Amino acid sequence: MKLKSQINDVLKDAFKKAGIEQEPLSVTEATKAEFGDYQFNGAMALAKALGKNPRQIATDILGHLDFSGVLTKAEIAGPGFINLWLNPLWVASQCEAALSSERLNIATRENPIKVVVDYSGPNMAKQMHVGHLRSTIIGDTLANLLTFLGDDVIRQNHIGDWGTQFGMLIAYLEMKDEDGSVSLKDLEQFYKDAKAEFDASETFADKAREYVVKIQSGDAHCLTLWQKFIDISLGHCEEVYEKLNVNLTRDDVRSESFYNDDLANVVSDLDKAGILEESKGAKCVFFEGEEIPVIIQKGDGGYLYATTDLAALRYRAQTLEAKRISYVVDARQAGHFKQVFKVAKDAGFVPDDVKLEHIAFGTMMDKGGKPFKTRDGGTVKLIDLLDEAVIKAKETINNKEEYTDEQITDLAKIIGIGAVKYADLSINRESNYIFNWDKMLSFEGNTSLYMQYGYARIQSIFRKHNAEISGDIILEDDLERRLATMLLRFEDVLNRAAIDASPNQITTYLYELASIFMRFYEHNPILKEGVDEKTKMSRLKLADLTAKTIKQGLDILGIQVVDKL
Ligand code: ARG
Repeated sequence: MKLKSQINDVLKDAFKKAGIEQEPLSVTEATKAEFGDYQFNGAMALAKALGKNPRQIATDILGHLDFSGVLTKAEIAGPGFINLWLNPLWVASQCEAALSSERLNIATRENPIKVVVDYSGPNMAKQMHVGHLRSTIIGDTLANLLTFLGDDVIRQNHIGDWGTQFGMLIAYLEMKDEDGSVSLKDLEQFYKDAKAEFDASETFADKAREYVVKIQSGDAHCLTLWQKFIDISLGHCEEVYEKLNVNLTRDDVRSESFYNDDLANVVSDLDKAGILEESKGAKCVFFEGEEIPVIIQKGDGGYLYATTDLAALRYRAQTLEAKRISYVVDARQAGHFKQVFKVAKDAGFVPDDVKLEHIAFGTMMDKGGKPFKTRDGGTVKLIDLLDEAVIKAKETINNKEEYTDEQITDLAKIIGIGAVKYADLSINRESNYIFNWDKMLSFEGNTSLYMQYGYARIQSIFRKHNAEISGDIILEDDLERRLATMLLRFEDVLNRAAIDASPNQITTYLYELASIFMRFYEHNPILKEGVDEKTKMSRLKLADLTAKTIKQGLDILGIQVVDKL
C-alpha cells in the first residue's frame, strides 16, 4: 500500500473543498514524534499564488481534512506546517490487508515498462575480481526490485569476450590443452604464462597475431578454440553467481561479440547521421566544448569498447524495446557512458523517451582505505573472498552442538554471503566502500546478521506459540503504533529505491524496522504470563508481518533468512 499517496489523496480532497486549484505537494515523513506521523509543508509555497498568509491557508486546508479514514488528527505548527497523525484503526486494517496478501498488499505497476539492467559484465580473459562484485550485487538487487514491482526486466550480462588478447590466449590454450584438461581455474596465472610465452617466443607471438586475425575472419578452428575458452571462463563466473545467490544465467549473457556483425553498420549510420569526423586517421564523434572525442573506429579498422556499446544501446532500445536501460558499472566509466548515451541519442539509435542511466558505484577499499588487494598486491579473486566469508561466518554460529556439520555449512553460507552482500548494499553506492569483516559479520548495527537474527527471533516466538492466530490487530501503545506505521511504509520505500536505483534505501528501512521491532518486543512481551489473549494475538500478528517484511526485503537483496540462528 502506497502510504504517502493515501495521505496525499486526503489532502487533495481538502484542497478541492477549500477551493484551492493547485495540486498539493507530497507529504513527508515527520522528523520527530511530536510532529505526528507525516507533515504537509506546502502552505508556504501557496501563499504568494493565493495572496494569503500561510497559516491562514493551513487553517483552511485543515478545516476540510477528512478524519473519518486515514487520519485521526492534524495540527498547525510554525509558519504553516500541518502535522498529521494517522488513524490507528486505519493503520491496523491496512496491516491486516498486508498480512493476508501474498505480496504484502504491494501493488504491481499499472504501466509496467521494459527495463534492461546491464550488470556484472566480467572479462573472459581475466579472473573475475572484487571489482565485479559490486556490479553483480547491486545490479541483481535492482533487477529483483523492478521485477517485484512488476516491470518487465531483461538482465544483460555484457561479458568481455572479444579483443586482441584472445589471439594469444587461444594459441596458448591450443598449446597447453593437448589432453583437454586445462581448467583455467587460475585465469590470472594462465594469462601471465601466455604473456611470458608471447614475449619469449617469436613463433608463438606470430601465431598469436595470426589467430587474432583468424578469429575475426571466422576461421572454424580458431573459433572452436575461442568458444571453448569462453565456455570454461564463463563457467567459473557462474560458480561465483551460484555462491552469491545471484539470478544470472547463460540466457542473460549477451556478450560483446554478439554485436560484431553490427559494428560496421554503427559506423556507417553515424556517418549518415552526419556526426562522424575523421581525425588522425580514426573515425570519431566530437562534442561541443570538449577536446577529446569518442573514437568509433581506429585507423587500422579496429572497433572499440564504445562502438560495441553503441550497437548494444541500439539493440536494447530498438529490438528489445526497453524504455529504461540501466548500466550498473564502476563510477570510473562515467565519462564513457556520458559520451555513448549522447551519441546514441544524437544518432537516433535510442528514441528520446528512453531513459538511459549509469548506475555508478565507488571502489572497494581495504581497512586502510586503499584499493582492495591481496597481501602481495595482486587482485583478490572473488571466489576466494566468498569462501573466506563462509569460513568466518562459521565462527559466528552459537550453540554449534545443536546442528549437524552439514547444517552448519549451510548456515554459514547464508550468513557469510548475506554479510558480504548486505555490507555492500547498505552504503550509498556512489561512495567508496571499506571492506571490513568484523563489521559486516556483527550481530549489532545495520548488518544482515542483525536482520537475520531479528527474523529468527520472531520465528522462535511462533515455535513457542505454535497455535492458530485469530483476532484483530489493535494498536494501543505508542511502540505498537510506530511499528505498524513503519510496516506500512515498505511500499513507498521500494518505489523510491527503484526510482533512485538505491538499494541502501531498502537496507536503511529494514534496519529501522528491525530496530523498532526489537524495542517493541522488549517493552511489549508477547507470550509472557499475564498478557491478555486479545493483546497477544494482535502482537503476534505484528510480529508476523514484521518477519514477512524483513524476509521480502532481504529476498529483493538476494539474501536468505533462516528460522533459527
Ligand atoms: N566488461 C566491462 C568491465 O569489466 C564492463 C561492461 C559493462 N557494460 C557495458 N555495457 N559496457 O569493465
